[in-house]
Amino acid sequence: MQGETNQYIYRQIYTRLKEDILSFKYESHEKLPSKRGMAETLNVSVNSVKSAYEQLLAEGYIYAKERKGYFIEPLDQLIVDPDAQKTLGQYKEGKPQLYEYSFSHMSTDMSEFPVDVWTKLLKRVFDNYEYYLSAIPNIKGPIELRQSIAKLVSYQRGIQCHPEQIIIGSGTNTLLKRLMQLLPTEVKIGVENPGYSRFRNLLNEGGTTTIPLELDGKGISINQINATQPDAVIVTPSHQFPTGIIMPVSRRIDLLNWASTTNSYIIEDDYDSEFKYQTDNIPSLYSFDKNESVIYLGTFSKTLMPGLRLSYMILPPALVQKFETHNFDMIPDFSMLNALTLNLMIKEGYYEKYVKKMHQHYGRKREQLIVALQQAFQDKVNIKDTEAGLHFMIDVKSPFTYEEIEQRAKEAKLELYTINRFIVKALEENNGVKTLIIGFSKIKIEQLDDAVRCLKKVLLG
Ligand SMILES: Cc1ncc(COP(=O)(O)O)c(C=O)c1O
Repeated sequence: MQGETNQYIYRQIYTRLKEDILSFKYESHEKLPSKRGMAETLNVSVNSVKSAYEQLLAEGYIYAKERKGYFIEPLDQLIVDPDAQKTLGQYKEGKPQLYEYSFSHMSTDMSEFPVDVWTKLLKRVFDNYEYYLSAIPNIKGPIELRQSIAKLVSYQRGIQCHPEQIIIGSGTNTLLKRLMQLLPTEVKIGVENPGYSRFRNLLNEGGTTTIPLELDGKGISINQINATQPDAVIVTPSHQFPTGIIMPVSRRIDLLNWASTTNSYIIEDDYDSEFKYQTDNIPSLYSFDKNESVIYLGTFSKTLMPGLRLSYMILPPALVQKFETHNFDMIPDFSMLNALTLNLMIKEGYYEKYVKKMHQHYGRKREQLIVALQQAFQDKVNIKDTEAGLHFMIDVKSPFTYEEIEQRAKEAKLELYTINRFIVKALEENNGVKTLIIGFSKIKIEQLDDAVRCLKKVLLG
């Protein structure tokens, strides 16, 4: 208790003196009273004054001369810009919007996540991987996880690659940024339209030119690629985002041939390929490629959770050395603790078991949601139901504009995205038909009917 009181008194003396020095109540080089003298004036212990003087000395407010005492350091007036102060005062952290129901395509269902398994494996990482945890990690990620991913993509995605080609990152967005640093600065990247707007915005903000490319029934349009001549394209062939188109083999061959004849890259965003409901897994575009034209992006944000922030990129051999040279001084941005825990989860079969379980869970949810939508909207809805992924698109006849729908959803505490979020030029009215993206991963099965009732109210009034 005595210690705490001294601590408190020392802090008060230190703060008072600091404020007085900063407001120039003391002259430069003015001598401070001796410790004993100050202690007597303030009626406190010499130790409290000593601690305050030592702190001021450490921070450079005063200086000491041997056997002479403590003196005020000459300081310039700190320039204070009144406008900067105003901006700071105005800044308020916006509260996150809380939703009653969510049709977000970005979320996952956490209710079945094996927290006990994760915790057990995390403890094992602490016990066995101190050499990794206590040092700066390899920029490409721990070799153990890269080896596990190489095996995983081999039997799940038909990808034959060496762990050396795999780069772990804290998200496909950050990996895409790293990839851009390896390509010439003036590259033009073709992006799907509609497509994953985060990629498009990220590239544009980073100064890369993007070319929005329309889709036809088979996915990204080869005619448009030929007409606009991008240096690379980003595609989602396993389940086009957001339309759901699965790129048929004919278009895959056309795309690969375009890449090899023009010496261009195809960036394959394989974000949710683990979830196919009636068919078997569809092989990746990377697995078709014989000319090292494809750069593969994979993520654990859909199979596990977006909050984990673990994704990976598989580079063609020609870019591996370039990546290593370019990133020689970089420190990776992912959590080593999570990366090593994930490695154990994959290696010991828990990951595959969990994905299988979630596959069934999402499949059931998806079917029930489709029935609920058909019952609620009847002939006012057209469900564009590709049997894959964690979202689908619907067309609904609604008397409201897109803007009104977004506002009404917000007011109803319903998380809902329209096609306009993913398209370069906002869609105009189309005989009252509005296109929406319906993500079904986050919503609970027991909430489905209520959520659809809420959606109906938002869309039809
Ligand atoms: C189309 C698309 N690509 C990629 C991702 C994965 O992003 P990340 O790995 O940064 O979480 C998502 C996530 O929702 C997505 O919707």
